[in-house]
Amino acid sequence: MKVHKLYLIATLLFVYGASMLSFNVNEKSISEAFVGDVLISLGEESPKHARPNASEELIKQGFELVHLGRTTGPNGKQSKYISKYYVCTSCHNTSIEDPDLSKADPEARLDYVDENSMKFLPGSPLYGIANRESWYNGDYYKKYGDLVDKARNSLAESTQLCAKVCSSGRYLEDWELEAILAYYWSTQLKVSDLGLSEVELGKIVGGDLENKEKVALIKSKYLQDSPATFGDLPQRMDLGYPFEGNPEKGKKIYELSCQTCHSEGGVSGMVLDQSKVTFQKFKKNLLKNTDYNLYQIIRHGTYAESGKPRYMPLYTKEKLSDQQVEDLKAFILSKAN
Ligand code: HEC
Ligand code: HEC
Repeated sequence: MKVHKLYLIATLLFVYGASMLSFNVNEKSISEAFVGDVLISLGEESPKHARPNASEELIKQGFELVHLGRTTGPNGKQSKYISKYYVCTSCHNTSIEDPDLSKADPEARLDYVDENSMKFLPGSPLYGIANRESWYNGDYYKKYGDLVDKARNSLAESTQLCAKVCSSGRYLEDWELEAILAYYWSTQLKVSDLGLSEVELGKIVGGDLENKEKVALIKSKYLQDSPATFGDLPQRMDLGYPFEGNPEKGKKIYELSCQTCHSEGGVSGMVLDQSKVTFQKFKKNLLKNTDYNLYQIIRHGTYAESGKPRYMPLYTKEKLSDQQVEDLKAFILSKAN
């Protein structure tokens, strides 16, 4: 930890020194630094989940646990799957998914993930999760109650909650949790991810601002939490939400979100294909109070029960806006006739 810190301070000093000579050199060098490391070097407390000295081996184990659900354990054997049904990446992306990290804007996100061949998922990305300051924000309290108390201020506890409850899996063993925390710390936001202007970068490496002001400037560029608002069902199912749906956007939502779980070999046993029969089933249920009702399934999801441990996470409004639900409905209806 100490060595790492010194290295960083040395880099920052070098960068600052170099700034006298050439502005570009300094910009490049700081760009590759992790946001957490820069904040710590500016006097912020190191978060409890920081793992700056993790070995490559541990990070690799964390990567495999997140992407594959298991890895080779310390005893040299394959570990048990965290969940029989899900891997973390069924619900969480592992790279940036928002063009502007300071906003939770699902419309901009949909375009961004589409352009970058990514999925459009109900969980927040794990890339940069170590730079957040709280988790399971907003209305998640309504769904997980007391469990959220411990999780909200602890990335380790949030990970345990998600491994056990969200993934319909089990609690992680200590070494597994360590591996995942090491992986998170290795996939932090970089300064170059923050979209700082040259002038702003200059302020961060320069000498005019107090450290506190530099910290505030950096933090203004990304969300420290992930706002979560549970949406209501429309007052009247036949009228829906008061937005005109755009079927082309709805098609993207269907393919980049719903079908990632609901396709042949996907995590749900229920396949949602692009056949007329499938779309007609949605249409038929639009006014009914069933799990197949589009509003109901999106805003409430389903709950894991004994005998039916696979469940569908709900989409908060920050993950799928009311406008986007209408877009999806417009696509489905355009295919049902
Ligand atoms: C079935 C879907 C699903 C699976 C599988 C899943 N998660 Fe989650 N996870 C969620 C949702 C939904 C949330 C709610 C908060 C959010 O991310 O917006 C969440 C929250 C989290 C949080 C708190 C983050 C936050 O944004 O507040 C962490 C950390 C997390 N999950 C880690 C994991 C890890 C590690 C795994 C694999 C072991 C995993 N999750 C598997 C759906 C899932
Ligand atoms: C993270 C995975 C995941 C995503 C994403 C997802 N679902 Fe699901 N969905 C499930 C699971 C799991 C179930 C429970 C049924 C089962 O066991 O397969 C389910 C159930 C459903 C059901 C109820 C089926 C029934 O017979 O009760 C509908 C309808 C549905 N999903 C539609 C959607 C739509 C529409 C979307 C996109 C907006 C979507 N799902 C996105 C995993 C997912």
